[in-house]
Amino acid sequence: SQPKPQESEVNPSVSTPAIRHRPRRLRRTDALRRLVRETQLTLDDLIYPVFVREGTEIEEAIPSMPGIYRYSLDVLLKELAVVLRLGIKAIALFPLIPAEQKDNAGTESYNPEGLVPRTVKAIKAEFPELLVMTDVALDPYSSAGHDGIVEDGVILNDETVDVLVKQALCQAEAGADFVCPSDMMDGRVGAMRQALDADGWTQVGILAYSAKYASAYYGPFRDALDSAPQFGDKKTYQMDPANAREALKEVALDVSEGADLVMVKPALAYLDIISQIKQATTLPVVAYNVSGEYAMIKAAAERGWIDEPSVVLETLTSMKRAGADLILTYFAKQVALTWLP
Ligand code: PBG
Repeated sequence: SQPKPQESEVNPSVSTPAIRHRPRRLRRTDALRRLVRETQLTLDDLIYPVFVREGTEIEEAIPSMPGIYRYSLDVLLKELAVVLRLGIKAIALFPLIPAEQKDNAGTESYNPEGLVPRTVKAIKAEFPELLVMTDVALDPYSSAGHDGIVEDGVILNDETVDVLVKQALCQAEAGADFVCPSDMMDGRVGAMRQALDADGWTQVGILAYSAKYASAYYGPFRDALDSAPQFGDKKTYQMDPANAREALKEVALDVSEGADLVMVKPALAYLDIISQIKQATTLPVVAYNVSGEYAMIKAAAERGWIDEPSVVLETLTSMKRAGADLILTYFAKQVALTWLP
């Protein structure tokens, strides 16, 4: 117990009895701070995004994402063994597709012999307990670098949804635990749920990128996948960063169409959106700590301007505090390795 201060140590000119509430009392020691901590960040909350490419024995650095690599499947499997041993339970898989396999309709996205289905099968064969989440969108497969089919400069909605459904079925067949539509086409969650159920994939979940903003924070990811739009931007399908109520509408639609998990993306500049969505739904809320958020912290840390582990933990904790139940983060492995308090 704390020794009572001697009479002589108390400044008689300060009228201490007037201070009835002393919040600092609960911050006095580490044990006490842990006892009253409102938010806990644990490895159970983290989903690790990983990049896969064709070839063998490849571990290719991504300059704008230090510490993150594009792996060929053989190396990826070794990496996942490490990641699993560290306590990470879920990954999100993103493919680098060779330019010659890209076309306007993203047909490679539903090739059962394609990179993603082959990778999912191999992962599930070796690590059946690892949760595998696959991205559903056309951009890695699109010659235009857009998330849908392009006609006269317009991204077609319903035609794209038909392709997305084929892509989701192909991923389910390969063994994905969750299909994750990140395309922002209207009606895709409902179409996907219906098709999955009709084919018997009732246990395959949908993680919907519900409130996905047209954000400049995706730059490094597009470097990683060589998937930047070849013309224009994604503002006719991704959301306007100025809108919050519209995010609630998108979430309500995805929930009614059968989503299991709803996501906000990016996370850091959208903590208010995470918080509002948490109030508006009973589904678990996922935050995507995106590539640009990762790159900013890495860049400042490389210059010695910030203390990386502290900033990362503070940032991820802020997402949980805002209401995120789960976080997709490129920091997951490092957090698991050394940083978790
Ligand atoms: C593609 C997709 C993107 C991201 C995840 N899925 C990029 C985009 O919409 O252009 C970005 C992830 C990140 O920046 O970390 N549909």
